[in-house]
Amino acid sequence: MLTSRRLEALGNGVFARTDQAKQAYRENTGAPPLIDLSLGSTDLQPPVEILQAMAAAVEEPSSSAYCLEAGTAPFNRAVAAWCQRRFGVDVDPRRQVQLLVGSQEGTAHLPLAVLDPGDRALLLDPSYPSHRGGLVLAGASICSLPLSRERDWLPDLDAIGPDLWDQLKLFVLGYPHNPTARVGDQELLDQAMARGCRHQLVIANDNPYVDLALEGEAPSLLRSPGWSDWGIEFFSLSKGWCLGGFRLAFAIGAEPLITALRQVKGVVDFNQSLALQQGAIQALTRWADWPRSLHGVYRERRDRVLSVLRSGGWSCSTPEMAMYLWLPLPADDEIQTLGDETYARHLLQRSGVALTPGSGFGTGGQGWLRMALVRPTDELEQGARRLVAACP
Ligand SMILES: Cc1ncc(COP(=O)(O)O)c(C=O)c1O
Repeated sequence: MLTSRRLEALGNGVFARTDQAKQAYRENTGAPPLIDLSLGSTDLQPPVEILQAMAAAVEEPSSSAYCLEAGTAPFNRAVAAWCQRRFGVDVDPRRQVQLLVGSQEGTAHLPLAVLDPGDRALLLDPSYPSHRGGLVLAGASICSLPLSRERDWLPDLDAIGPDLWDQLKLFVLGYPHNPTARVGDQELLDQAMARGCRHQLVIANDNPYVDLALEGEAPSLLRSPGWSDWGIEFFSLSKGWCLGGFRLAFAIGAEPLITALRQVKGVVDFNQSLALQQGAIQALTRWADWPRSLHGVYRERRDRVLSVLRSGGWSCSTPEMAMYLWLPLPADDEIQTLGDETYARHLLQRSGVALTPGSGFGTGGQGWLRMALVRPTDELEQGARRLVAACP
């Protein structure tokens, strides 16, 4: 065989198929324009000053050169200052911070840094695809911790017995949680971190939505005792600062984990360009509070879409974080039998609105659809009306 067995296990089924379905819809010339709500890639623009900082630095010769680790020192210092301001936590910019080419890259590479093939790792189901993907690439033996509507999409840590906790080497969480749009709470991360310390396993929290909790305050592993021994948390400029295309993110964690991740990345990349780092430094210093200015926009989008969907008979709870709605399939038997992937395709064909089938995030997402609130409000409302009209 030309390719590895690992790739088979990795799969890309649902997302690749959704992409093909979108392409087929676009090629259907008579159809109304596609409203693509299947990706968490926002239409909102970052502060122009951040882009100007990048543009000004682009012509510096150093921006065109490879950026070795020492070159990231100013960025790391900006992260440490942000961390102190945001959480009141001191971090060592040299030893506890790592620049990433997106938090997706970090979560996908972390397992290579901490696991040997066959090592056991715990994963929420559903979860963001790079969490599982990284574990598969590292040859981990994956144990799933199911999330359910009944438990409000929060994991039951007591469902794992002490023996299994002892065998685990890594637990990957992500709160606030994509795709269920639950913010989660600090107590959950504290309990996970306490288990990490007690049973000596790495606790990783993927936290790109830290500034986008619409209800309450997002939890952070950095507030949990023990993070600097067994913890690592991933942050991103993609969501809060609307900079997804620039691939800027960072990890903060226990020194040995940062060193290990750096070692893996040393094989793979030479860090982001210094020009882009200049923009990130601006974001984390002068524009540190800016992400909260998005709350009003996302809240309005959420409420207007929910109002249309609910008046059209869809049952959906109000999400606690920005950017996503997590929608159960209508209770109709026929739709339930079709399942989320087929039903999402039907909805796309009939309404021109693309949603993500929940099963793309793991079997725990079966029977659900994710809508990303990443178009202007009027277009979202129009999309919601088309969805309602397309439902039986
Ligand atoms: C939980 C989670 N982690 C990571 C990412 C990707 O973020 P980045 O652009 O920093 O790679 C996303 C994007 O949707 C996400 O939802």
